[in-house]
Amino acid sequence: MEAFVITGGNKLEGRISISGSKNSALPIMAASLLSSEPMILQDVPNLRDIKNMRALLKLLGCDVCDLEAGAKDSAIRLQVTEEEPCWAKYDIVCTMRASICVLGPLLAKRGKARVSMPGGCAIGERPVDIHLRGLEALGARITLEDGDIIATTDKLKGTTIYLGGPFGSTVLGTANVMSAAALAEGTTIIECAACEPEIVDLANVLNAMGAKIAGAGTPRISIEGVEKLHTALEHRIIADRIEAGTYIIAAAITGGELVLDNCPLDSLLALVDLLGRVGVEVNQADLTEDKRRCLVKVKCADNKTRPRPVQLTTQPYPGFPTDLQAQMMALLSMADGNSVVTERIFPERFLHVAELGRMGARLYRQGPTVIVSGVDNLIGAPVTASDLRASASLVLAGLAAKGRTIVRRVYHLDRGYEQMEKKLEAVGADIHRVNVDETSNL
Ligand code: EPU
Repeated sequence: MEAFVITGGNKLEGRISISGSKNSALPIMAASLLSSEPMILQDVPNLRDIKNMRALLKLLGCDVCDLEAGAKDSAIRLQVTEEEPCWAKYDIVCTMRASICVLGPLLAKRGKARVSMPGGCAIGERPVDIHLRGLEALGARITLEDGDIIATTDKLKGTTIYLGGPFGSTVLGTANVMSAAALAEGTTIIECAACEPEIVDLANVLNAMGAKIAGAGTPRISIEGVEKLHTALEHRIIADRIEAGTYIIAAAITGGELVLDNCPLDSLLALVDLLGRVGVEVNQADLTEDKRRCLVKVKCADNKTRPRPVQLTTQPYPGFPTDLQAQMMALLSMADGNSVVTERIFPERFLHVAELGRMGARLYRQGPTVIVSGVDNLIGAPVTASDLRASASLVLAGLAAKGRTIVRRVYHLDRGYEQMEKKLEAVGADIHRVNVDETSNL
């Protein structure tokens, strides 16, 4: 097992290039099952979750190959060669919850899907009831057998579906129902659809394949079913807003000055607004009108003053993303006063709280809310990563802390951050990947 060894205190300065979005690439890759013609995707990040999705698609009869061997963000080609397999088994689903993305495409194209029910995970219970309700509304018969969801249909039929749940809409639920409805008979209206940019990216690919989807990016998506989807050539995956947000916060927590390349500024407005109140400026640094991929400069208003405390509540897009809550908490733990962080999407997503506490952060949790009482300094410590974004917050805390931090179980980070330690090292961080055995001597 590997760990990061970080010696804190270096200001980050320089340029980081943002990779393609993991959470956009995963449902788009799954959507390749909707057609027998090829799909070519560019800027697919080289991550463990992407490797898992490739492995799952291979088992489901879809060939996936690299087009630019050795490229940083590779281009891949996906093409279904066999239509019989329809079983996403537990051993692969338990490595990656996003395996649920194959449910809608398999059902719509092959008339049957068997997908192991994803269990809870480190960030909470994470049910898939809304996905199933949506597919049932399209006419699917759904049963549960041996822990697997079994869905069958002769032909899906369009209808109006409400996809809201107790915590708002569902991103992958919207992806599943939208993908399935693309091949349904008649028109489907999804009300309370997720508005995340990843849903817009998926709709753009499906439309390029001949689907008729309107309204993606709003809470009401309308899908006129078509008989067949065709090829999707050369779709470039959107830039990863969560990776970009993480590095923006990394610059802020070290009092540094970073320039981000390929940064999706338009989808980070909630973060930019909050950071403005904390005392960190995030501005576009080029003249391009395309704010989905621009050059962005992060600058702390005054290097000597501590961040100002704020109130933060996570919300569905365009609100503040749950996927940046842990990283922001690391920054606020060094603020000059008390902040209040409330998690409204995954109320149990607080595994970083105890670990940040080991580094001297003063955090008091009450249900879905954490009071963050800012301290002058964090202090390096051995800490254990528990999920992707919690791990990222520990790395950020380590970059700012006095002394040495060892972040164990970095395989969580490898699921969602491409070459994180290399990107950080290139802008001045003292961070190294080591085998856990090596840390016993530290
Ligand atoms: N929910 C239900 N029933 C459902 C589906 C969801 O109650 O059938 C609840 C969830 O438990 C949660 C809320 O609805 O409380 C929102 O969950 P959502 O379904 O939107 O999450 P997801 O689609 O499974 C994606 C991202 C997550 C991100 C969330 C929220 C991918 C692969 N995953 O998950 O990303 O946190 O949306 O934005 O796109 C990450 O990248 O670290 C990550 C966890």
